Amino acid sequence: MTTRPCGLVVLIFGIESSDFGCSCSYHECCGTLLRYNAVVRFEKRVIETGENKYAVIGAARLVLDGIDQCIVGRLGSMYDNVLKHLDGRLAQITDKFSDSRSQHKIDYNATNNGVCSAIIIDRYVPGDGVMNVLLDGVNLDSSDEEV
Ligand SMILES: *[C@@H]1O[C@H](CO)[C@@H](O)[C@H](O)[C@H]1NC(C)=O
Ligand SMILES: [Zn+2]
Repeated sequence: MTTRPCGLVVLIFGIESSDFGCSCSYHECCGTLLRYNAVVRFEKRVIETGENKYAVIGAARLVLDGIDQCIVGRLGSMYDNVLKHLDGRLAQITDKFSDSRSQHKIDYNATNNGVCSAIIIDRYVPGDGVMNVLLDGVNLDSSDEEV
């Protein structure tokens, strides 16, 4: 297979929360900066979640003017086993669940502190077998039926 019609869809959680590093000295909640078609880069990151408590997350960092900026959300734990393959990848926001007409998506948004979906926009890289298999095969996307 040499072409693919669409990229891998991933969900980004916590975009309406300041937890998990989604707050900075300029924004109480950096996820409010997220717009449709915004580009984010995933970054494997250790964050402090409480006193002496740490978590490894796939942080989604907003890319603006070509520069990696605030952390606006994170990948869910369902991506934990492929985190190293998503590290550094770019994705574009395609759907904000809070604006959806689907009640499922609105509920899912509310219970997960704000959710959006994004499509990985990195292309196949010749020789990068692991990533190409991931883009091809892993069914990580959460389609309308599932949420
Ligand atoms: C989406 O989730 C956030 C955080 O839980 C909530 O504040 C917001 O009201 C939700 N949006 C809708 C449309 O329910
Ligand atoms: Zn910020």
